[in-house]
Amino acid sequence: TGEGSFGDTDDHALRVSKIRDGTVIDHVRGGQSLNVLAILGIDGDDGEEVSIGMNVPSDRLARKDIVKVEGRELSQDEVDVLSLIAPDATINIVREYEVIEKHRVERPDAVDGVLSCPNPGCITTGDEPVTSSFDVLEDGVRCAYCGTIVRDGIASLIET
Ligand code: CTP
Ligand code: ZN
Repeated sequence: TGEGSFGDTDDHALRVSKIRDGTVIDHVRGGQSLNVLAILGIDGDDGEEVSIGMNVPSDRLARKDIVKVEGRELSQDEVDVLSLIAPDATINIVREYEVIEKHRVERPDAVDGVLSCPNPGCITTGDEPVTSSFDVLEDGVRCAYCGTIVRDGIASLIET
């Protein structure tokens, strides 16, 4: 639904301005945009040009967040992790104001080296340099080493 004639922004003015070159992460679950920024490592300190709409009306989700990042195209790794907190998101690559690529995020089977295990006894959180690995479940992630399952607060596990 929603592809084409009844886009979320058809009526009235755009709530968040269009960007020239970069990425629009659309159809993010309402309230998750700050976690999207965390995943992308955006804290404002590096001067990135970012616009956010939070809890804006949407035809596909009751309320959605939208994140627009000027001058940046996301890596597959970043998109993979985004899928964990924004499973309905659409990634729009924009060049010269036009959407030149649009794809839905897909949940990967596993994510390696991006989340840190919350279990202090886990081998991945010790002094040994072991790369973290999480299996992606329907409703969360599971540490491949110690089996700890995390359902809420996945964004807070993102390695910095
Ligand atoms: N967008 C933007 N800057 C541009 C082009 C598009 O910020 N230069 C945003 C639009 O505001 C929209 C998203 O990118 O939020 C996708 O654009 P588009 O594909 O034109 O909109 P829709 O058809 O409504 O997208 P969808 O069908 O995925 O809902
Ligand atoms: Zn673990």
